[in-house]
Amino acid sequence: MKLYVMKDYDAMSRKAAHLIAAEIMVHPDMVLGLATGSTPIGTYKRLVELYEAGDLDFSQITTVNLDEYEGLPATHDQSYRYFMEDNLFNHVNLAKEKSFLPDGMAKDIPAECRRYEDLIASLGYPRLQLLGLGHNGHIGFNEPSDSFKKEVHEVTLTDRTIEANKRFFASKEDVPTKALTMGCGTIMHAKKVLMVVSGEDKRDALSKTINGPITPEVPASILQLHPDVTIVCDEKAAP
Ligand code: F6R
Repeated sequence: MKLYVMKDYDAMSRKAAHLIAAEIMVHPDMVLGLATGSTPIGTYKRLVELYEAGDLDFSQITTVNLDEYEGLPATHDQSYRYFMEDNLFNHVNLAKEKSFLPDGMAKDIPAECRRYEDLIASLGYPRLQLLGLGHNGHIGFNEPSDSFKKEVHEVTLTDRTIEANKRFFASKEDVPTKALTMGCGTIMHAKKVLMVVSGEDKRDALSKTINGPITPEVPASILQLHPDVTIVCDEKAAP
């Protein structure tokens, strides 16, 4: 694992955006795996700036997102599709038909999980997968459990995750309790993984991710087994 400790959130975001941009420049038609949440917002802002400056071209890029809430339509302002459009897709020359997320409104959730896993596999998996890190060590919505999940699956969110995400909703009761997420196995198929981590409240999870035992109790710890992981954190999150 390569770890970059940056001065603050802004420096972390710039570094992450430059690492993604470099990959896109070398592989302009690559599959880019994306994450939502507060942490990558600054990274997306910087990518938009690079695009606006004429330094980055997304026209041949395909994107696959890690996860989506169940039960929120794409038009809901807390759906991950909406988040991606708001923070990235609407501001760069990405082809919308080449930007994929799980369908949280699907009637048949197991079939949707299979469809999304097969889609990602048919694209050859991401060349680069961007990740955030949950306070409990989750990646995507792979919550602590007794086994690592291989493929796209349905999860019941833990109370800690619902608590952390309620800031975006009118009340805790409005936070969906279920989601669809890439499995740890899906994530491990990416050629490169880039994780962004910010804030003192993530330090413990990051320390366990890097130095702790590899255990499904800390889903991100599986990244220790991946051959090409870069973590960019700010000083507050540095273990
Ligand atoms: C969302 C995702 C989650 C977040 C994590 C951290 O697509 O993959 O694992 O990365 O919950 O979220 P923030 O950045 O809001 O602390």
